[in-house]
Amino acid sequence: MKALILAGGKGTRLRPITFSMAKQLVPVANKPVLFYVLEAVAEAGIREVGMIVGDTAPEIQRAVGDGSRWGVHVTYIPQPEPLGLAHAVLTAEPYLKEEPFLMYLGDNIVTSSVKPLIEAFEQRKPNALILLAEVPNPQEFGVAELEGARVVRLVEKPKQPPSNLALVGVYLFDKHIFEAARAIKPSWRGELEITDAIQYLIDHGYTVEWKKISGWWKDTGSLDALLDANRLVLEDLQPYNYGTLEETQLHGRVAIGAGSVLKRCIVRGPAIIGANCYLEDCYIGSFTSIGDGVRLVSCEVEYSIILDGSCVEHVETRIEGSLLGKNVVVRGGARRPRTMRLMLGDSSLVETP
Ligand code: DAU
Repeated sequence: MKALILAGGKGTRLRPITFSMAKQLVPVANKPVLFYVLEAVAEAGIREVGMIVGDTAPEIQRAVGDGSRWGVHVTYIPQPEPLGLAHAVLTAEPYLKEEPFLMYLGDNIVTSSVKPLIEAFEQRKPNALILLAEVPNPQEFGVAELEGARVVRLVEKPKQPPSNLALVGVYLFDKHIFEAARAIKPSWRGELEITDAIQYLIDHGYTVEWKKISGWWKDTGSLDALLDANRLVLEDLQPYNYGTLEETQLHGRVAIGAGSVLKRCIVRGPAIIGANCYLEDCYIGSFTSIGDGVRLVSCEVEYSIILDGSCVEHVETRIEGSLLGKNVVVRGGARRPRTMRLMLGDSSLVETP
């Protein structure tokens, strides 16, 4: 079986970070989301991977290469415009041909193995197998309506959700999905929705089976979801220390990369600090991921993600629930009057909650 990973799209909900990087490459616990996807696909025993790419293709290709790092072979499939998940499926048709395939959204992290899902699909041979998860915010996803054991209706981001069962971004399809994707019309958001294509299968007498997800699942397309995914991955962090500590206290599970120096800091795990960082007089709270080459001096950071090369110095207010891109500088000063000098990119956000 082949896999189709979707790593195109625009990432509008993660702007400004996604002005300069692919949303699938934003790191969770210092590892790009897309790498979790590749690990999951490889773990399921799949070797041939088609990867849908858009504007950020060069960056994705640089990060993933030929896939040999995961023991898979990646074929890149350019999608000229992000016209929807069903459009992506049609774009990949010449690659996928007539064989059933696993489709995996490149911004989804699922902890449970997809192997049992593939086994069920191969044994029972439905035309599609979807994965559902109970969520508190179903209006942000595709939502399934069940009647007994049967799925009867799927709606994309409904204002009034018929249930709390969201469609997880992992699907198994046979060749009939191409017929469905060709038959549907673009939605109100101008996209060919995979949800509508699956609804077409239901309406035309094809079998669509579903399974509830066993572990946790996160669509990392928004800031809150990304921070929550970071928390969940860090829950399983294995501690290590390749850095140098001076008068520093580590509490709980903390991982520190090579070449990093921590002076007079308190780190409360789970937290991960990359390589070649310099931290002085800092408090790092739980569920924080700090990339490589980050400099933090006299500041407090908690429940946040800070990407490579950034610098936070002399900031009195604790930074919390935040995502800082690469090479960001946040610098406070002790001088009066307390003014603020900002140079923020488009769609940046600065707020006091
Ligand atoms: O995460 C699960 C949800 O994913 C489902 O519940 C929804 O039913 C499904 O439509 C999808 O919704 P999103 O609005 O979150 O999809 P998004 O636009 O974020 O795209 C998902 C992935 O597919 C992402 O990695 C970008 C990629 N993509 C997206 C589009 C629209 C493409 O490669 N090509 C595209 O044309």
